[in-house]
Amino acid sequence: MQKNIVLTGITPSGTPHLGNYVGAIKPAIDFAKNKDLICYYFIADYHSLIKVWDAELRKQYTREIATTWLSLGLDQNLDNILFYKQSDIPQIMELNWILSTMASKGILNRAHAYKSLVNKNIKNNESDRDKSITMGLFNYPILMAADILLFDAKHIPVGKDQVQHIEIARDIASRLNHVYKKNILTLPEAKIDKMSATILGLDGRKMSKSYKNTIPIYSTEKKLRKSIMKIITNSQLPDEKKDPNNSTVFTIYQNFASDVEINTLKEKYLAGGMGWGDAKQILYEKINNELIGFREKYEHYQANPQLIDDIMNEHGVKARHIASQNISKIRNLIGI
Ligand code: ADP
Ligand code: TRP
Repeated sequence: MQKNIVLTGITPSGTPHLGNYVGAIKPAIDFAKNKDLICYYFIADYHSLIKVWDAELRKQYTREIATTWLSLGLDQNLDNILFYKQSDIPQIMELNWILSTMASKGILNRAHAYKSLVNKNIKNNESDRDKSITMGLFNYPILMAADILLFDAKHIPVGKDQVQHIEIARDIASRLNHVYKKNILTLPEAKIDKMSATILGLDGRKMSKSYKNTIPIYSTEKKLRKSIMKIITNSQLPDEKKDPNNSTVFTIYQNFASDVEINTLKEKYLAGGMGWGDAKQILYEKINNELIGFREKYEHYQANPQLIDDIMNEHGVKARHIASQNISKIRNLIGI
């Protein structure tokens, strides 16, 4: 039986934070442990070109993401995973063009990211509704379709904001299959983990690099503690009873603790007598414990960056080999 292919990309546009860990990295590492699946995980550095314009920063984010995934337990020696850089696979660019000839402009006009920029221009009474919008941003979904369709991926674990992109990839794939009269491209499906919670940030909103409210996955113990102590709470005094359902500290704790631990903390909230500083200390110790082994590996890779480059290069070679076979089939079909 042919194995299902899971594929997802990570844009190097920021330093990985605890929201990324719980919402994306942990589930992806768990998928990779299932031998019945083949997992392709890659760093979408070409995608980052639309919002990061600093070469050194791009390199830094790329290395941080690779180091984070590998240190958190993505096992590069498993033979069902490939972990590569998008820019190491030139066939993605070739397919990008082929797919652009199948992508309906109307659908791209309706893509959320593009539409919201157009709406902003209209709201600001700009005479040009496309002001400051690059073709890179407009074509972003086509490149994403190329990432996915080149590798016959079926399941695409993504956040809700990416679902429309997967639908666009499906649309482009069906169009090409129809035009060239062969079901050569697999139609991908977004895999949304409804159970995976949204981690809240320091200010109680969704943790996100755009809100600058993140807790980085990698930091020293001291910095981690300092960030956790910054979580905004209400002004209740230590002896007052506290509502666990209305507490960012408690909500974050739920994503790291066992059911028993969660209940114990809940009781402490409800009983009163525990100050916010104590609750934060409990949260800090929990997260810190989970990250101790990770931190050591991260520092080891950081001290030996060549190790990361070697892994990405080795996986890049394997992914390129598969990409080259797949693109040949597509070239053949379209008469090139
Ligand atoms: P950001 O919001 O910081 O820009 P990204 O959009 O780069 O994060 O997200 C990368 C992945 O991490 C996505 O799969 C997304 O669903 C997940 N993710 C990001 N923030 C959170 C969060 N606060 N809670 C849970 N998952 C998150
Ligand atoms: N656009 C995705 C994001 O910003 C990253 C990405 C690029 C991706 N190519 C992909 C995700 C292909 C899934 C499949 O989160």
